[in-house]
Amino acid sequence: MISLLSDLALGDAMPESYLQATTEELHVRATKAKALLGDRIYILGHHYQKDEVIEFADATGDSLQLSQIAAKQTADHIIFCGVHFMAETADILTLNEQSVILPDMRAGCSMADMANIDQTERAWIELQKVFGDTIIPLTYVNSTAAIKAFVGRNGGATVTSSNAEEMVSWALTQKGRMLFLPDQHLGRNTAVKLGIKLEEMAIWDPIKQKLELQCALEDVRVILWKGHCSVHMNFLPKHIDNLREKEPERHILVHPECTYEVVQASDYAGSTKYIIDMIEASEPGSKWAIGTEMNLVNRLISTYPDRDIVSLNPFMCPCLTMNRIDLPHLTWALEELVEGRIINQITVDDKTALEAKMALEKML
Ligand code: 13P
Ligand code: SF4
Repeated sequence: MISLLSDLALGDAMPESYLQATTEELHVRATKAKALLGDRIYILGHHYQKDEVIEFADATGDSLQLSQIAAKQTADHIIFCGVHFMAETADILTLNEQSVILPDMRAGCSMADMANIDQTERAWIELQKVFGDTIIPLTYVNSTAAIKAFVGRNGGATVTSSNAEEMVSWALTQKGRMLFLPDQHLGRNTAVKLGIKLEEMAIWDPIKQKLELQCALEDVRVILWKGHCSVHMNFLPKHIDNLREKEPERHILVHPECTYEVVQASDYAGSTKYIIDMIEASEPGSKWAIGTEMNLVNRLISTYPDRDIVSLNPFMCPCLTMNRIDLPHLTWALEELVEGRIINQITVDDKTALEAKMALEKML
């Protein structure tokens, strides 16, 4: 059985000296190395990255935007400041001669880790026994390349939080039912928006290998994989109730990886790009509570000082794995490239990449 963490070698070891250097020194060294490398490198940064990393990004974006940008890149090396599944996607969408680097191999995603390929193949066999050939698989891009390949070879597609409605609508025109991996919350929130009833959604528990039903088998339209994001699970309906009572004028804006109850109780829900766009378009003086990762919320607070922005959960932390990418690791990756060495390269084998690309291309 392969899990994301065991799947990932811990990668090349960064010399201790990078941890001992001051931020100022690393800043100067990273700037110099980046200038020396010129257009041979391109740095992509997800919105959840720390400011010290985002500062060096040639492009920032949500998962969809970053994969679109990666697909068009011509640079020899792409340094991906994000998490492992995002760098895998970039490797799948770029040419074999281009390298994709994840500055710290420990930057995984606990949600992607909740669906491994063995569990998925087993679930598929069981579900086919119950439902026959009536299911199309969809996977959130927050999944391993092996899961994307599984979805590709079974006629399905990938999905991100910014196109989930479109992709789920498409899937339901293809077959009678859909299996949505690995985030039950994005799957449920999207299906509800499209008018599917909660009772028509079953949950596949990959640990117990069991289907949790709320209606007769023949009425099941959506099968949700029992996975979640441990960061977004920290936003609770009680946080919304407290705010509504104390500050009814504060708008509540969350990521759709939050639970159904939280999304239903908030005013708006959407991808990281949607969250940024909403704040950018908002009136000065308006009040917001945001339910997403803390590096992004802090950046919005500092970028828009004339809006009153707080985290929906006052005790929220950043995503720990996203946070593995820091200035020392970025500087190290850049300086090694200057010396002609590639560290922490992400390589998806050709067969997996080909099948995963079929799923990604339907979305892109
Ligand atoms: P976005 O696609 O909205 O950027 O989300 C990625 C992610 O990992 C959210 O937890
Ligand atoms: Fe994964 Fe959640 Fe972190 Fe996004 S915020 S990378 S889904 S653990």
